[in-house]
Amino acid sequence: MTRITCKKLSKRYGKGPIALDNVDLSLDTTGVFALIGRNGAGKTTLVRILSTTLFPTSGDAKIDGVDVVGEADEIRKRIAVLPQEARPIPWMTPRELITSYLMWRGVGYKNAGKKASEALDLLGITKFGDTMHSHMSGGTKRKVLVATVIASGADIIFLDEPTTGLDPISRGEMWDLLAKLKKGRFIFLTTHYLEEAEALADRIGVLDEGKLLAIGSLSELRRKTGYPYSVKILQKADHIKIKLGRVIRGRDGNLQVFTTKKGADELSRRLISNGIKFATNPVSLEDIFYFFVKKKVDEGGEETGGGEWQGA
Ligand SMILES: Nc1ncnc2c1ncn2[C@@H]1O[C@H](COP(=O)(O)OP(=O)(O)O)[C@@H](O)[C@H]1O
Ligand SMILES: [Mg+2]
Repeated sequence: MTRITCKKLSKRYGKGPIALDNVDLSLDTTGVFALIGRNGAGKTTLVRILSTTLFPTSGDAKIDGVDVVGEADEIRKRIAVLPQEARPIPWMTPRELITSYLMWRGVGYKNAGKKASEALDLLGITKFGDTMHSHMSGGTKRKVLVATVIASGADIIFLDEPTTGLDPISRGEMWDLLAKLKKGRFIFLTTHYLEEAEALADRIGVLDEGKLLAIGSLSELRRKTGYPYSVKILQKADHIKIKLGRVIRGRDGNLQVFTTKKGADELSRRLISNGIKFATNPVSLEDIFYFFVKKKVDEGGEETGGGEWQGA
């Protein structure tokens, strides 16, 4: 069954630039769908529209066939959302937070308490259940928030950048937890950590400047680039001609060539005979992201030339 569909979904805030631009999307996965994109790409805007806290400017969206605008109350029963800016109230304990959240959703007090205990257990934070949030690390607080939405038992869970700002160890712990939690659930995750999407997602969407540029599993995205191999040239090599593939210049000024297996083999041989250092690999999600986004990705990054280099 199709769980989420968007048709020509667009959003413009007031007279500002377009934040979401004609997004067509159809998702029928269980597991994790990861929406990746830079800051300002439109990820939160899409999550807010799907979770009924923001009206689209045009187009429509449905969850399990239910319209997110026309039947928002029905949608709210089926979903649980961890917004990007959510932080647990400092003077509450996780047990109090989860219990009150569930009661606010309509669960009775006794049942809410039981579900809170189960969620704390599932997230491995039972020992913090009665500690005030103000005494916890950032990583534990984030686990409390995830426990809260999981406790809802909702069919679809939205997690908007759940690991942004965490230290690398806490982020790794969160990935392990999400890998466990995704079984039998549908999690709509947004992130700008590409390793996070690579590690967790069954399907990945690439969003940039409000446009959904590509969608698929990691291997489908790799195929969609048409160039499943990357050759990173690790020193200045402007005299080497690239015969097949697409070239981008990295922040370090060195070239990276997206190419076919044959192209990678041929280029590798020439680089070896010229004594030039290089690294060749199947393209990573990071490579794929750069490939689709195809523009200044960071200060100084640029694409060389106009796309394809054939015998240049
Ligand atoms: N409440 C708002 N009012 C005006 N512009 C907004 C608002 N929220 C987001 N935007 C703009 O919409 C675009 C997409 O933002 P957002 O959806 O927050 O992206 P992301 O979550 O990918 O970082 C950005 O250009 C942002 O500045
Ligand atoms: Mg955001």
